[in-house]
Amino acid sequence: MSKTVKLTIDDATYEFPIVEGSQGERAIDISTLRQRTGMITLDVGYANTGSCTSRITFMDGERGILRYRGIPVEQLAQHSSFVETAYLLIFGSLPTQRELTRFSVLLNDASLVHEDMKVFYQNFPRASHPMGILSAMVNALRSFYPELQDVEEEVDVTVTRLLSKVRTLAAMSYKISRGHTVVYPRPDLSYCANFLNMMFNSPVKPYVIDDEMVAALNVFWILHADHEQNCSTSTVRMVGSGRVNLYASISAGIAALWGPLHGGANQAVIEMLQDIAASGRSPRHYIERAKDRNDSFRLMGFGHRVYKTYDPRARIIKGTCDRVLAKQRIVDPLLDIAHEVEELALKDDYFLEHHLYPNVDFYSGIMLRAMGIPTNMFTVMFAIGRLPGWIAQWKESMDDNEWKLCRPRQIYTGPPQIDYVPVKSRG
Ligand code: SDX
Repeated sequence: MSKTVKLTIDDATYEFPIVEGSQGERAIDISTLRQRTGMITLDVGYANTGSCTSRITFMDGERGILRYRGIPVEQLAQHSSFVETAYLLIFGSLPTQRELTRFSVLLNDASLVHEDMKVFYQNFPRASHPMGILSAMVNALRSFYPELQDVEEEVDVTVTRLLSKVRTLAAMSYKISRGHTVVYPRPDLSYCANFLNMMFNSPVKPYVIDDEMVAALNVFWILHADHEQNCSTSTVRMVGSGRVNLYASISAGIAALWGPLHGGANQAVIEMLQDIAASGRSPRHYIERAKDRNDSFRLMGFGHRVYKTYDPRARIIKGTCDRVLAKQRIVDPLLDIAHEVEELALKDDYFLEHHLYPNVDFYSGIMLRAMGIPTNMFTVMFAIGRLPGWIAQWKESMDDNEWKLCRPRQIYTGPPQIDYVPVKSRG
């Protein structure tokens, strides 16, 4: 296969190297394009643009493949835990038992949040969205935990501190939003069990840890742990490229995840299914609306920039969702609507021709509902799961000597030079 590509502009021909990834992906390295040709490329939305090389996650959108550090996500969902998967993503290999125990102890030791941070929550309006609160509180952590002098120690300490405290911050926002007393983390509980206990334990109704719910939460967070250069991860890398501390970079990633086209889709799916249920119209009516280019309605939880087949995570989440509903003895009418929507879409030429399949968000909201998570916290759940991936990608960019300040160019389409006109002469 060619090792270079030729580009002819006017009467000059330029040659650029082709780079190849470890799994055969190929790209044209245009890092010298502007200095040699005076031109840039234009790729709105970066659908055809690689921002970096990375050793962390491999996705094949045509074949529905997702691997963390080479391990298929299906195997991690079946055999691993979220803490072990987080270690794999951040430190590059599965931990030994000794390393895993030490990591778990560090996470437990760092699970409390400074008492002075509680006052911040009191001053958010009650209707504040938990994603806005989480982004603000993660940024505020930097003020309470200034960076250590030793960079290596700083990153490792900050990593475990952030991974551990994000659960506590999220559960605190839920409890305080309901006017309930905050539940503190317990050293005897695992990462996921601790979160569920902090969310649902209360003095009047002690929460009983359900191993199946803990297992389902591990799977949910494993499946959300990383996804190469998605919108929010690219945001974390871009903010970090200015040599910004980890807390502020992650806070920016949380904000980027919030939107309904990205991590906010899990909340948008439930709201869509509720609208369909309340409308009395058939799912077929909504399928037709989704196909109508003059209608802004989109089928939330369907489609993906990279996957042009079934999102492998959606398949696993669907099975986990069924198990949670069965265990909780819940019959959720939204699930029936979701099944009907999926069945209609997967038989419809428009969806097949556009390669629109269920993504990770399509069934995850129904599972989270069955676990008792409020709808406005669904994207917070996504953010907690994605944190190891954001940290791993930020760390990789910091460690990568090739990594530069992210500063894309543009093609200007505004007015030519014009002169300033004093306000009294502007009519
Ligand atoms: C996540 O990047 C990641 O890895 C993200 C993520 C992760 O783990 O980080 O996987 C998490 O964000 C999953 C995606 C969650 N979002 C949704 O479920 C929202 C609904 N989906 C879409 O809005 C859309 O599919 C996107 C935003 C996900 C992807 O859109 P693209 O790649 O920008 O494609 P596009 O908007 O240019 O659409 C291409 C065509 C268009 O039709 P034409 O104009 O070409 O005729 O497909 C159509 C679109 O109208 N289309 C849809 C559709 N998604 C795309 N039509 C109806 N319903 C949809 N959901």
